[in-house]
Amino acid sequence: MLDSIILGDVARISTENRELLKRFEDSTLLISGGGGFLGAYIIDVLQYCNENIFKKPCKVICLENFITGVPERIKHLLSKEHISIMNKDVSKPFEIDIKPDYIIHCAGIASPTVYRKFPLETIEVNVMGLKNLLELARKSNVKSFLSFSTSEIYGNPTPENIPTQEAYNGNVSCTGPRACYDESKRLGETLCVSYYQQYGIPIKVVRPFNVYGPGLRLDDRRVIPDYFKDAFLQGKIVLLSDGKPTRSFCYISDATIGFIKALLSDCSGEAFNIGNDEIEISMLDLAKKVAEIIGDVEIEHQQSIEKNYLTDNPQRRCPDLTKSKKLLAYYPSVHLQEGLLRLKQWYINNYNLKT
Ligand SMILES: NC(=O)c1ccc[n+]([C@@H]2O[C@H](COP(=O)([O-])OP(=O)(O)OC[C@H]3O[C@@H](n4cnc5c(N)ncnc54)[C@H](O)[C@@H]3O)[C@@H](O)[C@H]2O)c1
Repeated sequence: MLDSIILGDVARISTENRELLKRFEDSTLLISGGGGFLGAYIIDVLQYCNENIFKKPCKVICLENFITGVPERIKHLLSKEHISIMNKDVSKPFEIDIKPDYIIHCAGIASPTVYRKFPLETIEVNVMGLKNLLELARKSNVKSFLSFSTSEIYGNPTPENIPTQEAYNGNVSCTGPRACYDESKRLGETLCVSYYQQYGIPIKVVRPFNVYGPGLRLDDRRVIPDYFKDAFLQGKIVLLSDGKPTRSFCYISDATIGFIKALLSDCSGEAFNIGNDEIEISMLDLAKKVAEIIGDVEIEHQQSIEKNYLTDNPQRRCPDLTKSKKLLAYYPSVHLQEGLLRLKQWYINNYNLKT
């Protein structure tokens, strides 16, 4: 059964965007990386629509190799008639006997600690995996193709480029410890635009800015789960930087609506920032917030045992959402405090934790 916190989000997304989502009725969607944080949420929305909104269900095919995804997260979908989960590495050439109407390439290795451990697999899924799916899109004559890029393609933006617009070309190292991720996502965007220009494939690219929320595994090693893990398990949050870098965090239900709006838009060949511009918060203030939410938690500074933990770490990250607001009518609405409280409850429900 789907967890009550995710179910609440999914029900709200589906009812508030009912007419838009109906465009998926009776169609086939292929989602790579559907066992991960963002992909599983999209499948949950589609399954909710199949059960509560659509007269004719959509079919969903999820391709996953579980390099970071957890089978447990999507086990409630295994028995669903219109959902198939296939164990497949999309970076390797594959044959598949379907012609999807929509393709969503969500597979990737997103956590910096994990991609530094698997740099080649990270490049492969962002480039070869994407190319395999673009080829499938070409053969299938898809209605739309959504590719997941990242805000990391901007690297460490110069101060005058924060908040960062899509038109900013970035300030990125091609050899540093983050390059396997940032540069392969950049090449991924070039591939998408080239398939659009050469073959007319209706691609859209999203650049998520630090999405968080239920479904983000506690040991993911991104900053929000790291803080919760420290706070829950040892009553002490360990800061691995001086606490000054800032980020803007976007709750997953807002981001999911943004992804769906981009996929269903007419803006082929375009890239969109998807995030939340409400607040840009320092890592120290974020730690204080999580400490307050859990209660009775100290904050301590330490150096990471990972030598390259902070190399090329962007100092600030904040999206300019002008383009997404104008062309997608994307307006994030979940405040950081509310999102963190929902995530706390999800961790309590799913990891048997106590405050
Ligand atoms: N969550 C964010 O804030 C964020 C921000 C920027 C970009 N992104 C991008 O969005 C996408 C989804 O991110 P996420 O947060 O859900 O990450 P995630 O790690 O939770 O999920 C990615 C999924 O892809 C699967 N995968 C990886 N390589 C694969 C392969 N070769 N074949 C099949 N499956 C494979 C993993 O097992 C995992 O389940 C990624 O491309 C990521 O780079 C996410």
